[in-house]
Amino acid sequence: MFRTPTTTFAAQKPGTIDLEISDPVLMLNEVARRYETAERVLMEYVDNALDDAEALYRANGGAYPYPIHIDLTINREQRAVSVQDNCRGMTRETLERVVRNVGESQKRGQTWVNGRFGFGVHAFRAAAESICFQTQHAHGSHFALELQRDQHRGIKEARRRDEPFPSDSGTGCLVTVSGFEADWFRAVTAVSLQTEIETHFERLLARPDLHITVREAGGPLLVCRPFDYALVEGPILQRELFLAHKEEIYPVKICLKVARETAVPRPVSFFARGRRVGAAADMKSFMRKSAGKTSVWSHPHLLGYIEVGEIVQPIINRDDFVRTQGRTVLYEALLPLEAELKLLLASVNQQQSEATLDQFSAAVQQAVTAVTGDAAFQVAFVAAGDRRLVVGENGRVAVNTAHPDFQARARYTRQGELRPTDRLNAYLATMLALATLPVDDQSTPAHLLHAQAELILSLEASLNAQR
Ligand SMILES: Nc1ncnc2c1ncn2[C@@H]1O[C@H](COP(=O)(O)OP(=O)(O)OP(=O)(O)O)[C@@H](O)[C@H]1O
Ligand SMILES: [Mg+2]
Repeated sequence: MFRTPTTTFAAQKPGTIDLEISDPVLMLNEVARRYETAERVLMEYVDNALDDAEALYRANGGAYPYPIHIDLTINREQRAVSVQDNCRGMTRETLERVVRNVGESQKRGQTWVNGRFGFGVHAFRAAAESICFQTQHAHGSHFALELQRDQHRGIKEARRRDEPFPSDSGTGCLVTVSGFEADWFRAVTAVSLQTEIETHFERLLARPDLHITVREAGGPLLVCRPFDYALVEGPILQRELFLAHKEEIYPVKICLKVARETAVPRPVSFFARGRRVGAAADMKSFMRKSAGKTSVWSHPHLLGYIEVGEIVQPIINRDDFVRTQGRTVLYEALLPLEAELKLLLASVNQQQSEATLDQFSAAVQQAVTAVTGDAAFQVAFVAAGDRRLVVGENGRVAVNTAHPDFQARARYTRQGELRPTDRLNAYLATMLALATLPVDDQSTPAHLLHAQAELILSLEASLNAQR
């Protein structure tokens, strides 16, 4: 990837040309621009801490050998955020290589960790001035190294710190990103970071002995917790696919839930190695393939995750997948699920549609009572018959919502919710005025027409005001 040339001479071997990057700082800062929020930038540092914790987890037979703590602290005055872990830390050599050898990841080929680019630590360049690493490894001392966003040469080598590294294990890493641009930092709060961690690392947070906390200096400590799908009532669609690709079998885990009651905002998301890549509906590459598109994947009642494993690789800022044949295999395997989801969602849409029709009929009733001043006029919505509206003997008025004239003016969201339109309100005002206009013996046709016009306009105004 991006390697700072060790010499400025042209070719190393006669007859060959070597790649060189004339301005690595410019290049790195431009690549970092792909990050869109400070929270997402900061997740790279949590990601690295989790990768290091993963090494401990694996070496210990699939359990953390001691409670892992990853703590984020916001310092508003300095527009800084620090991420501290109590994992293995880095030796001085590793620390200096991380800063010097951009694009060199020791993790490449280790399928159990997320890192692969050797770019994550440079994410701060998107929005902040500097980064400071403090670290201690079991086979080393406590070192600190600081890097400015615009620095190319003359970066001071790691300096030894006399005090012990401030973690319970005595080892770990403390990364502080400082001087965030005000515009980026404004939205950063302990809660925004907690939310990002809970969504981004949802699949890992459920493990015992992993604790991630966030605190703003002087504020309360927020503990990040996993999302519990079992608490959401509604049908669940759980699958494990085994996808064949290039003579290998790749498992993909799917857990989708159609929430019966009020929707919990947890749009179906793709995860890779327990890290969220993005909401299915936000992944352009997936939406291009999908037939149901956002009406399925961003349905407010649909939640869950798709853990994709190794069949696809995230792009450098990890919010989409690299275009590969594996990606096509994955998407094609997921598309048949849409038909099942559509069926489950159709029943939610039906309930939703009935609920909004009820709400709308209550609003219409309110408008009629307000305008006529007569509580005896009772309006109900029915979905039957050929007539637009039926006036009962008891003065009750039934509006036929199934009539083509009603339907032609009604608008429904993809989730089946009725959206009253100006045209629908004008139609209802006209129909109801005909049904509710009081007639007495003295009324002349001119009086009647005038009163009717007045009633139509008042009802229409009252209905529009209810929206
Ligand atoms: N908290 C940490 N604990 C231990 N080592 C770390 C930590 N943070 C960074 N490192 C070291 O720094 C290296 C560079 O991190 P960086 O995030 O840039 O690359 P990566 O994680 O290997 O790949 P990616 O760019 O995909 O994240 C890591 O490979 C790891 O060796
Ligand atoms: Mg990384």
